[in-house]
Amino acid sequence: MENKAQQSEQFATLNIPGKDPIELPIIEGTMGPEVIDIRALGKQGYFTYDPGFVSTASCSSRITFIDGAKGVLLYRGYPIDQLATKTDYLQVCYLLLKGELPNKAEYKNFEYQVKHHTLIHEQITSLFKAFRRDSHPMAVMCGIAGALSAFYHDNLDIYDPEHREKTAIRLISKIPTLAAMSYKYSIGHPFVYPRNELSYAANFLHMMFSTPCEEYKVNPVIERAMDRIFILHADHEQNASTSSVRLAGSSGANPYACIAAGIASLWGPAHGGANEACLRMLEQIGTIDRIPEFIARAKDKNDPFRLSGFGHRVYKAYDPRAVVMRDTCHEVLAELNIQDHPILDVATELEHIALSDEYFIQRNLYPNVDFYSGIILNAIGIPTNMFTVIFALARTIGWISHWNEMQEMPESRIGRPRQIYIGKPLRQVKAMHHR
Ligand code: CMC
Repeated sequence: MENKAQQSEQFATLNIPGKDPIELPIIEGTMGPEVIDIRALGKQGYFTYDPGFVSTASCSSRITFIDGAKGVLLYRGYPIDQLATKTDYLQVCYLLLKGELPNKAEYKNFEYQVKHHTLIHEQITSLFKAFRRDSHPMAVMCGIAGALSAFYHDNLDIYDPEHREKTAIRLISKIPTLAAMSYKYSIGHPFVYPRNELSYAANFLHMMFSTPCEEYKVNPVIERAMDRIFILHADHEQNASTSSVRLAGSSGANPYACIAAGIASLWGPAHGGANEACLRMLEQIGTIDRIPEFIARAKDKNDPFRLSGFGHRVYKAYDPRAVVMRDTCHEVLAELNIQDHPILDVATELEHIALSDEYFIQRNLYPNVDFYSGIILNAIGIPTNMFTVIFALARTIGWISHWNEMQEMPESRIGRPRQIYIGKPLRQVKAMHHR
């Protein structure tokens, strides 16, 4: 039962006028709602219509479970708050990739492997130089992550589990190095190489903030906050970027190129770009007295403005990641002794007003994980245009775990949705002088 979607005894019956009823099996996962298996419909000449995949399960997966109504998020069965408080990011990477939390020996071995793949091929540094200095770091990350496929292609057999594991380790090792390099490049500083004696989070902070003239001393509270941000963003089942990775991967494409597809999809403000958009919005609001103006805009159907950092496609109760992130946010601000911070004041008041406003209550629009992560990253000194890069760094393990799982699933096929064609009916090409 636990490892395979099961067909129940029940069927749904689809009645189409003038046709025989079609029996559709109902299948069940370990948890979550029953699912109507519509796979037979295509052969009978029907498609289903579901823009945004609101009612569509594109695959079965053993990795992450979300109950949006109850605000539950489990990685491999473990609640996100327990993982965030009792483990670290590398344990979570191991869990997502392999299905179980590591014991001490497994952890040591995994950590060793991750730390010993952090260097990137030195030739990659010259790729950075092809980008304008003022390029958005997400643009750089899309390009450089895709370029990794040119470095690790020929000897990669995606049907070999060992090759896939090595790819996963390379990715979670190298993406932080590349992320920090994209920042250093944007400010004209020399690249800072990884230091293997540091933890995963501390090493990232070191590569971001150390310079050849001065070493960055990593504050343990900040290190822990960074690690938590990584854990909370590590996976989120079939979101837009993970689905992009799976769709790209379904054709057998190189995994590094698939991860580049995930990074591109994550970039948008409705997805991973929300943390950057949220901070820019808080800066734009500026002072508490301007909040009502922005709330009114968010409610106005004729205004495309939305409150960034609020709402979620799946969570219709509080985002469980936001609960942990809010606590971490307060820890960081206390540690840094930040009390009167205009952005924080606006954020606190906005949260308060939105949570008590009928419009937001009726639509279940709660602050999501990106509402708080942006405030923490800002306090740590991470520039706003790096926020989504950090999300991408953390989500890389989720993407590669899904890509890996997909290769093993017998049901996996090339992703090929259909459409409702609403263009011109058949017509004939006229010679140009008759058009
Ligand atoms: N501000 C104002 N109104 C909103 C918002 C918002 N942030 N989000 C949704 N609504 C309204 C929307 O106008 C609609 O109202 P009505 O029913 O009157 O037409 C209703 O709520 C339902 O919205 P929807 O567009 O059908 O919801 P969706 O599931 O398609 O969109 C979302 C989910 C996350 C894209 C959306 O809530 C949003 O744009 N939020 C802001 C961006 C954001 O913070 N994204 C990060 C999500 S968490 C990180 C991640 O996992 O990527």
